[in-house]
Amino acid sequence: MQYIPPANLRGHDLAPLLAARGLDADWINLHDFDPHSPQNVARHTYAETAALVPFHYRTATPSLPQLRAWIDGLVAAAKETQEERHSPIASITHGPSLLLLGVCGVGKTHEAYGAMRELAVSGVYAQWQVTTAADLYAALRPRHGVDSEAEFRRFRDARMLLVDDLGAERKPTEFTEEVNFRLINHRYERHLPTLITSNADADQLRARLGDRVTSRLREMCERVAIKGSDRRRRAA
Ligand SMILES: Nc1ncnc2c1ncn2[C@@H]1O[C@H](COP(=O)(O)OP(=O)(O)OP(=O)(O)O)[C@@H](O)[C@H]1O
Ligand SMILES: [Mg+2]
Repeated sequence: MQYIPPANLRGHDLAPLLAARGLDADWINLHDFDPHSPQNVARHTYAETAALVPFHYRTATPSLPQLRAWIDGLVAAAKETQEERHSPIASITHGPSLLLLGVCGVGKTHEAYGAMRELAVSGVYAQWQVTTAADLYAALRPRHGVDSEAEFRRFRDARMLLVDDLGAERKPTEFTEEVNFRLINHRYERHLPTLITSNADADQLRARLGDRVTSRLREMCERVAIKGSDRRRRAA
């Protein structure tokens, strides 16, 4: 793992994330030149994660206790595996998934990026891919000069995956149904942690994703419903 000097993270608002994990704001700044120290793993993971977080959500922090519990579970499992295997660093490889449900503008994407940021400073390596479902379908459409299977594998095999806005299409097509099934089935069978958001309610989700996908989601995911109304409207 590359050594990241503490100065590289100056200007990032890490104190609230560290405080949420019971860590002092200076914890991450330990300059020990050890690429395997939890602090360097946190700096490395945070730098990678920050590159994936859109500007609008750059300061997001998670507020849901269920998301915190999910993060804690993944971190604990990664540390257990590290001990068993005598690995130099703890990395997230397997674990449960989480499905965030709620109406438009309630804060699903905010919570999801907040969770990514908080997990990043835990000292455990978490390697993410992020996409919206719509971007995923667009990226995978067969077209000349693009190996869409290679592109699909990038998401399918990601250690951690955020799929934002799954089931937003009112009219699924054969193509989107096939992508959803192949993606979810692969991650279900391998226990690959996946964070999914959707603004569909339970009935809409079943209608849009089909029984086979929703059945797998039910088993692999904890469902968390965010209550409230559109925060964008409130802000406006
Ligand atoms: N806990 C929070 N604290 C402060 N701002 C928040 C919080 N949650 C959400 N917001 C803000 O409210 C707005 C809507 O949140 P967000 O984009 O996460 O909604 P969403 O549920 O993903 O909506 P959509 O279904 O349309 O994608 C954003 O500007 C976001 O930054
Ligand atoms: Mg959203």
